[in-house]
Amino acid sequence: MPHSVLIIDDEEPIAWALRRAFEREKYRVEVAATAEDGLAKAKKNPPDVIFLDVRLPGMDGLTALNELKKVAPGAAVVVITAHGNLNTAVKAVEGGAFDYLAKPFDLAQALDAVKRALAQRGEETGGLRPPLAEVDNSPDAIIGRSPAMQTVFKRIALVAPTTACVLITGESGTGKELVARAVHANSPRRGKPLIAAHVAAYNPNLVESELFGHVKGAFTGAEKARDGLLKLADGGTVFLDELADIPLPVQAKLLRVLERQEVQPVGGSESQLVDVRIVSATHADLSTSVREGTFRHDLFFRLNVYPIHLPPLRDRRDDIPVLAEHFLRKFGVANPGAVPADTLAFLKARPWPGNVRELRNALEHAGIEARGAALRPEHFPEPSTATGPASTVERLRSLVAEWVREQVQAFGDREPTDLHLKLFDAVEPAVLDEVLRQVDGNRLVAARWLGLARATVRKLIRKYHPESAEPDGDE
Ligand SMILES: Nc1ncnc2c1ncn2[C@@H]1O[C@H](COP(=O)(O)OP(=O)(O)OP(=O)(O)O)[C@@H](O)[C@H]1O
Ligand SMILES: [Mg+2]
Repeated sequence: MPHSVLIIDDEEPIAWALRRAFEREKYRVEVAATAEDGLAKAKKNPPDVIFLDVRLPGMDGLTALNELKKVAPGAAVVVITAHGNLNTAVKAVEGGAFDYLAKPFDLAQALDAVKRALAQRGEETGGLRPPLAEVDNSPDAIIGRSPAMQTVFKRIALVAPTTACVLITGESGTGKELVARAVHANSPRRGKPLIAAHVAAYNPNLVESELFGHVKGAFTGAEKARDGLLKLADGGTVFLDELADIPLPVQAKLLRVLERQEVQPVGGSESQLVDVRIVSATHADLSTSVREGTFRHDLFFRLNVYPIHLPPLRDRRDDIPVLAEHFLRKFGVANPGAVPADTLAFLKARPWPGNVRELRNALEHAGIEARGAALRPEHFPEPSTATGPASTVERLRSLVAEWVREQVQAFGDREPTDLHLKLFDAVEPAVLDEVLRQVDGNRLVAARWLGLARATVRKLIRKYHPESAEPDGDE
């Protein structure tokens, strides 16, 4: 019997594209545009795999997830959503979803999810994790709507309920600490302490006693025994920030904690048992440190069981408007949604080498300058260059990538065509105009700069500026 897939999505183009892709694989496919209809169909013919949208008219997808688990307990459910947040991802995992795909996803990802679901069926199909209580992480909300952030949400949701070590990577200001807090807040340890160890801030000689504690008289000044951060976090989570700064001898001791769950205070001979989960972060490329011998590779592998990467803000510019609104609301701006379109465009175009932190500070600054009026580009501080902005080529590439994504989205169910030619049409006038400006309108020189025949330059001017084109044979 062919495998069967049920698609529950009210967005016709998506349902259509999925149906076509699955039918090509010879799956039996049914489509429902509402959760209610989907439940009825699942009850009648329990499918092997269900693709379930979150936002549906009537009953929403996450509510439907629980019901589907009752009527079709053997089905693997793949939750799909646009603009999901961390809560959506957490609920999907709690509800026993098999996977979570953020729209837009490509059909290859969808097919891969079905294949993995079918391969895993018969093993264990119940919920991935025991359900947790409702969590509200609003003070530490992680804002983002880009596909990259959707992936981050999904990864947090999947790893939070476990005790696995998490390594968070990303440039400065991308939200690593925020993610570490979310991992703890969504884990069963949330009632226990989350202790952050900002290793870079400690005196290197004291890192060891900060982490592991010391006994009385262990060194000059150690008048009393003191517990280290690992002991203080017992039952909870330790956030090790700036991993790369941990001295090698301390790394060896840390490995022992991970392997035996015990800490040995400085100067002491007795070990104490501790139960801690370690979430760490770095903006340095640790694999380089490992290669250079400044970071132990065995520790790296222990800590890097489950990596979560935060891309720089310039590679997820779709997040900028929602982040802006979030911060302005935090700063008490009355109507944070009312940022003029050209100001938003200005914000989206900046390179933000300091990432979300820089955006946040710039908005606070602009809010003060604007004194209640609409935010204008001139209210913002000069872009920071502290960490070195991405090169123009990098920015250009990331803009082109964004443009391709927009095109693909705009095409919905159809396949985009002529992307290459359309990109030309989109950028050619900019190249032409700027070159002409640089050479004071001299078409002969412009043709040389562009490496084009003069007649071609004339044709381009006629194409893009029909109003200003001179008749053929000028010059
Ligand atoms: N996605 C996000 N949503 C809301 N706030 C964010 C987000 N990402 C970062 N922030 C905010 O930006 C600031 C910097 O974030 P955070 O301290 O987590 O960055 P980091 O990656 O740890 O930086 P560093 O490497 O410099 O320590 C914080 O104020 C944080 O709340
Ligand atoms: Mg940090």
